[in-house]
Amino acid sequence: MSKIIISPSILSSDFANLGRDIREIEKSGADWVHVDVMDGHFVPNITIGVPVVKSIRKVTKLPLDVHLMIDNPQNFIKPFAESGADIITFHYEAVERSDVIELAHYIKSFDLKAGLSIKPDTNPEEILEYVGYFDMILVMTVEPGFGGQQFIGKCAQKLPLIREFAEDDLILQVDGGINRETARVCTKLGANSLVAGSYIFNAENISDAISSLR
Ligand code: DX5
Ligand code: ZN
Repeated sequence: MSKIIISPSILSSDFANLGRDIREIEKSGADWVHVDVMDGHFVPNITIGVPVVKSIRKVTKLPLDVHLMIDNPQNFIKPFAESGADIITFHYEAVERSDVIELAHYIKSFDLKAGLSIKPDTNPEEILEYVGYFDMILVMTVEPGFGGQQFIGKCAQKLPLIREFAEDDLILQVDGGINRETARVCTKLGANSLVAGSYIFNAENISDAISSLR
């Protein structure tokens, strides 16, 4: 399998020192920067939005991996694309089934990678017909909304089925409760991109934490 893409979630960074923290993960070997966007409707929390992405675009060359946990994601694809996102992932549960493919095309029309995410209770069989339209599938391994939650092992069991139906170049990402041990579980089951927030930003040595995930 190809190299593992590590995408630290800045949700666990120090927002008063966001530029510093992003430079720190960049020099510590991170591949992407994971940006968690929440609207207080799709998930019971509010985080950051378009202006923050625009600002962090100026401090890093790393691809910005924008995870939209919002209703009506179609309204925000253009603003995030124009602010410097490189990957935009929306939730399957936030849209009508009839809009999923169109939204993948819309994201790609900005020359970005398109991602589709599923929550812990969503059956992976529901999205198999859409996998081929996306560059990335994000399997949530916690309920979206907060950092620092415990990994839900049964979510990782969805990975082999998705991998089986995917082209070889599909990026299969997991997000939530990822640490050294749960990373192993997920990569064995077919994940090749790992999001980690608290494990990386709360570590004494960020560089060691990132290497320990590979
Ligand atoms: C949760 C977010 C995650 C979160 C992960 O809704 O999508 O990206 O920041 O945090 P940890 O790694 O601490 O579980
Ligand atoms: Zn996320």
